[in-house]
Amino acid sequence: MIGRLNHVAIAVPDLAAAAAQYKGALGAEVGAPQNEPDHGVTVVFITLPNTKIELLTPLGPASPIAGFLEKNPSGGIHHICYEVADIEAAAARLKAEGARVLGAPKIGAHGKPVIFLHPKDFTGTLIELEQA
Ligand code: CO
Repeated sequence: MIGRLNHVAIAVPDLAAAAAQYKGALGAEVGAPQNEPDHGVTVVFITLPNTKIELLTPLGPASPIAGFLEKNPSGGIHHICYEVADIEAAAARLKAEGARVLGAPKIGAHGKPVIFLHPKDFTGTLIELEQA
């Protein structure tokens, strides 16, 4: 069911510093910061030849990644995103498999519907599925 790796998301305490490091030391193609108020994050996308890296930092007081950064103050891998052809079909299949789907599909940072799957059901990794 899952297709390409769409992105790996890394939560960071200082978005400007992380973006500068990817651009400078790592020589990557780094985009401009985008506020995603519906998701409580500001993101910077880094385009690699085969996938993207999404740098995330909290936006607003109730950001879902604030707790993660408290536990991982220097940042860390927050989730990975796989592409699926049909988000509703994917959610139905996963629920039937007994996986916890976190909420209903929402429009994600790329303007496409996404869902998240509970990390405890997937080897400790928060998984995002994005309709390709
Ligand atoms: Co993501």
